[in-house]
Amino acid sequence: MRKPIIAGNWKMNKTAAECRALITELLPKVANAKCDVVVCVPFTDIALAAELTAGSNVVVGAQNVAWADSGAFTGEISADMLKEAGATYVILGHSERRQYFGETDASVNKRLVQALKNDLKPIVCVGELLAEREGGKTEEVCKRQVEGAFDGISAADAAKTVIAYEPVWAIGTGKTATDEQADETIGYIRSVVKALYGDAVADGMRIQYGGSMNAKNVAGLMAKPQIDGGLIGGASLKAEDFSIIVNTAK
Ligand code: PGA
Repeated sequence: MRKPIIAGNWKMNKTAAECRALITELLPKVANAKCDVVVCVPFTDIALAAELTAGSNVVVGAQNVAWADSGAFTGEISADMLKEAGATYVILGHSERRQYFGETDASVNKRLVQALKNDLKPIVCVGELLAEREGGKTEEVCKRQVEGAFDGISAADAAKTVIAYEPVWAIGTGKTATDEQADETIGYIRSVVKALYGDAVADGMRIQYGGSMNAKNVAGLMAKPQIDGGLIGGASLKAEDFSIIVNTAK
């Protein structure tokens, strides 16, 4: 049995003051969650979010990590810095990073190596564009992204990693993949992991769905056998909506 994991991806939203308000409202609503609960907040909110969630069942994540330990990398944040600030998880290779900031399978791989080396728990995002789905390329794209991200990663390290399947056409669009589409593609991704690492790693790996997941569609998605939780953007910005998602994931 894989324990579901619901992670909020706040993206570039919430100042520190807003972070305090949201987390304060959220904590009591999710206190009895049966899944792992993560909030991936902007860098500037990590220390505060860690302080507010200390002793609770909610842990904090970042939305990216540098591939180097330290040095001349203007604008980047190191794994050390994230950990000291209180981050446990880190999102890697989100489609917005790939689309707007030049992230590639190779750079995602370097960041994944660095996250694992520093005991940050990675959430690696993969997923196809609309044209790729319509062109019948969904599996090819997901396979390339998974193989690229995990290049050279050991089975022991892969076992510590979460994958988020996020069809790009479903992110922030209100257009969710159907329960069947999400389940089928996640099953396919699991088969790619199986080919790389064998049954034990593939069967134990948590693979989330992400893309317009919300309080209304969470039950149908979570009922599917391959779907182990969600990476939630828009709906993670409201305590009420996010808590419904969390409390539906058992
Ligand atoms: P969304 O974003 O829930 O707003 O579609 C999901 C994500 O990009 O992680």
